[in-house]
Amino acid sequence: MKVTVVGAGAVGASCAEYIAIKNFASEVVVLDIKEGYAEGKAMDLMQTASLNGFDTKIVGSTNDYSKTANSNIAVITSGIPRKPGMTREELIGINAGIVKTVSENLIKHSPEVIIIVVSNPMDTMTYLVHKTTGLPRNRIIGMGGALDSARFKYRLAEALEAPISDVDGMVIGGHSDTGMVPLTAHATRNSVKVSEFLSEERLEQVAADTKVGGATLTKLLGTSAWYAPGAAVSGLVQAIACDQKKMFPCSTLLEGEYGLNDLCIGVPVILGKNGIEKIVEIKLSDAENAKMQESAAGVSKTNGLLEL
Ligand code: 2OP
Repeated sequence: MKVTVVGAGAVGASCAEYIAIKNFASEVVVLDIKEGYAEGKAMDLMQTASLNGFDTKIVGSTNDYSKTANSNIAVITSGIPRKPGMTREELIGINAGIVKTVSENLIKHSPEVIIIVVSNPMDTMTYLVHKTTGLPRNRIIGMGGALDSARFKYRLAEALEAPISDVDGMVIGGHSDTGMVPLTAHATRNSVKVSEFLSEERLEQVAADTKVGGATLTKLLGTSAWYAPGAAVSGLVQAIACDQKKMFPCSTLLEGEYGLNDLCIGVPVILGKNGIEKIVEIKLSDAENAKMQESAAGVSKTNGLLEL
């Protein structure tokens, strides 16, 4: 199983590290345009192999896509991260050109590859990869909901004063500060609805904190987060690589599902060896559906900024 991670920055390197530690891939190629940077990160990570107990081979490459040839899965993390106060959508001007070039290069060397998009604004970048590569929609996946759901569970556990392992919840919709739809009515504490433990006001605060989870960290760190994004995308890679048939909220091209067409947005999907094996249409309340439609309108507006 060969995985390529494009972008050796904090998110890409964290993703490569988590994939290696899970030890399901034979090779991880980390590629960056900065001279020697990916090679350095790969060598540093390989020097943890005996300490962290993995046999995965991590290789670095300075913009030589031949090293990525015949990758089964490729993760696109390249592009600039947010600065405090920025929205993800403001990154489109620079990141769109980068993501377009990267996806063209990936396909040239790995025609069968499954692509996972992390670069922001992620839903629009995922849509751009569709327009650029023409790949079938099961082979292009946007990572946002897995990260947002992890932040949702963190906030739920904090409010419940419960261990994270007791909590389950999902965030669908756009991966944006305003477009996320945390499904508070579906969230549970060990199979019991969290509304049995938390007031409506407290749940609204949990949802609000979740939606700005990325921006909260950017303010604290001075740049975008990397541990949770890297961990979230490594989980998607593992689900595909190991054909786990696991369900995650991922950004995918909708063709009528949820009453939406011609955009990529976060919905529950089953991930396996074919990438998106199934799009799951869950029953949403009128209020949840209204938020989803509003979120989709925001994603479509950002898509409109693309020069396709
Ligand atoms: C985040 O929310 C980078 O969009 C990513 O942290």
